Amino acid sequence: MDCLSLYQNGVDRLLECGIADAELESSLFLAFILDVPRSSVLLNLPRCTKKHIDFFNAYIDRRCQHEPFAYIVGCQEFWSLEFKVTPDVLIPRPETELIIEHFSSIFTEKNTPLQVLDCGTGSGVLPITLATLYPQATFTALDVSAKALRVARENSKLHQVSERIVFNQVDFRQPLEFDGPFDVIVSNPPYVDPATFAELQDDVVHFEPHLALDGKGDGFVIVDHLLHTLPVHLKDGGHLFMEIGFDQQQRAEELLRSLPFYGQYKVHKDHAGLPRMIHAVKV
Ligand SMILES: C[S@@+](CC[C@H](N)C(=O)[O-])C[C@H]1O[C@@H](n2cnc3c(N)ncnc32)[C@H](O)[C@@H]1O
Repeated sequence: MDCLSLYQNGVDRLLECGIADAELESSLFLAFILDVPRSSVLLNLPRCTKKHIDFFNAYIDRRCQHEPFAYIVGCQEFWSLEFKVTPDVLIPRPETELIIEHFSSIFTEKNTPLQVLDCGTGSGVLPITLATLYPQATFTALDVSAKALRVARENSKLHQVSERIVFNQVDFRQPLEFDGPFDVIVSNPPYVDPATFAELQDDVVHFEPHLALDGKGDGFVIVDHLLHTLPVHLKDGGHLFMEIGFDQQQRAEELLRSLPFYGQYKVHKDHAGLPRMIHAVKV
């Protein structure tokens, strides 16, 4: 079979299974299997071998069960860096790049020796990306999941920043003991209301770790807990960047206003115009 027919066959099967970006995903699977850039895969197609065809069909079968693309190929891009992902970690989302964007706009001097804490590190995207941008910064990254931390450690080695990140298996709902205080705390905590899990896409609810999604109670319990407990680990004038759910702005602002620790705070919108990230400065 020539690769173009294989690609078209993939598009048809993905469409039948209700995958919206069928053309994009079929071409990405083909590029992954042939190990060529996606930009050139349909322009310059080699002949597909039986091995290529078998791999391609197996990937399409898995995608048709709504297994996320990133888990099938085992990696996901974040801030133009490639990260290993497994079903033990949340697939990094573009909206989380908002934390990197705002962090970079505040700390413009890249050689500042910042001490940064990441709460709920998952695949490690936040500290690892920041470590590549800030060569003098050091990081403490924590997660309750030992399996997630294994993936994060591996990613830190892939990006050659492992010497500057300490990974700790810690439950951030328990009292935290750290060297700190830190210059900056970043966090993308779980913030989904578990009662709404049934409304999430199959790809998310059936495949991504519920530990990474479940914000407990009505979805705001973990954010609430972290906003109360993290400031003690921040230096005066230190910065907190935290992702929240698109519908949690009002509650977050009310809470920030009521707490004595935060001098300034603002909820920033993502590129889709949704309020997604708290930036607060400790007084
Ligand atoms: C939304 S994910 C974020 C992962 C990663 N920072 C990212 O942005 O892709 C939240 C992470 O918090 C971790 N987590 C959940 N509950 C926790 C707890 N009680 N203590 C520490 N980590 C927890 C999960 O294992 C998960 O890796």
